[in-house]
Amino acid sequence: MATVTFDNATRLYPGTTKPAVDKINLKVEDGEFLVLVGPSGCGKSTTLRMLAGLEEVNGGRILIGDRDVTDVPPKDRDIAMVFQNYALYPHMTVAENMGFALKIAGVKKEERAERVLEAAKLLDLEQYLDRKPKALSGGQRQRVAMGRAIVRKPQVFLMDEPLSNLDAKLRVQTRTQISSLQRRLGVTTVYVTHDQVEALTMGDRIAVLKDGLLQQVGSPRDLYESPANQFVAGFIGSPAMNLLPSKAVSGGVEFGNASVKADIKATGAVTVGIRPEDLTVNKDKGLKVTVDVVEELGADGYLYGHVTIDGVEHNITVRVDGRNHPMRGDEVFVLPVEKHVHVFDASSGNRISGAVID
Ligand SMILES: Nc1ncnc2c1ncn2[C@@H]1O[C@H](COP(=O)(O)OP(=O)(O)OP(=O)(O)O)[C@@H](O)[C@H]1O
Ligand SMILES: [Mg+2]
Repeated sequence: MATVTFDNATRLYPGTTKPAVDKINLKVEDGEFLVLVGPSGCGKSTTLRMLAGLEEVNGGRILIGDRDVTDVPPKDRDIAMVFQNYALYPHMTVAENMGFALKIAGVKKEERAERVLEAAKLLDLEQYLDRKPKALSGGQRQRVAMGRAIVRKPQVFLMDEPLSNLDAKLRVQTRTQISSLQRRLGVTTVYVTHDQVEALTMGDRIAVLKDGLLQQVGSPRDLYESPANQFVAGFIGSPAMNLLPSKAVSGGVEFGNASVKADIKATGAVTVGIRPEDLTVNKDKGLKVTVDVVEELGADGYLYGHVTIDGVEHNITVRVDGRNHPMRGDEVFVLPVEKHVHVFDASSGNRISGAVID
């Protein structure tokens, strides 16, 4: 097992002027499950491929443990990668697919069979070892792809959206299996996804990327409770955090006809961030919301409405009681739970309020 260190690691693709991955600094701890998340094109796969040795590093270094692997060929890095399109060999059985890399590496037949069986037991694939991939379900095929990585007993697992070929239900099941398997094996893992729910549920820590730049690294809780900037605030959490223009006042921020406390020293224009579950509906205090639609989800519901601030309309989402809530067309007022008010600098987007105190 090993740590992974990105030290100012940069990738500038030939013929482009802006790095796809720009001076990334990140340390993954030994045995940690780190999720790299961000929107399409932000540089997740590039970062992972740099670690795998499949992409040249144009600046900085990459270390696995204490070893600088920046110029080490992929096969000598002791890593195993699971891709989104994990093409299995159709003419080989499950056992042969799983053992193929070991065969290439010259591992003897008996040891190969032993390691394949061991992985098959972990993945619940024992009874399928003699089948061909076409006779397996999508989820089983995905587990074979995992098996191919596991049998190699690498120092680091790299996974690039390994669940994106599965349907929604299977994705949820498989993500639980992957996290519990990773915990059992204790192998340092870097996992790429664009899905923030996957990131929140699977990662020990999450690294958020945007435009090739690392935005924040922290536990799911850290990112949810104290997003470092407006981008992370809007990206992590569903439905997304409400981000509204406001003004700093002494000891807090303006919020419609009320002001709410916030731990800031700013003056002037700010952006206020409040999660849908941190707004409460009342008759006359705070921001006036016109209700557009209410989505009932049983116990809870989400109210989607709009507010007008300085003559400009903004959408707003409020979590409400699923059985007892305002109706379309109603005008209501909302106020935030004070300790869950996030304040961001209006121009830089950086967080300026203190961490959430609980
Ligand atoms: N071979 C290449 N040559 C030039 N530019 C590239 C190359 N591969 C990727 N890029 C660019 O680098 C940026 C990052 O791409 P990357 O594949 O790392 O994104 P990603 O975060 O994995 O996105 P997705 O979620 O869509 O898979 C993108 O702007 C992409 O267009
Ligand atoms: Mg990608």
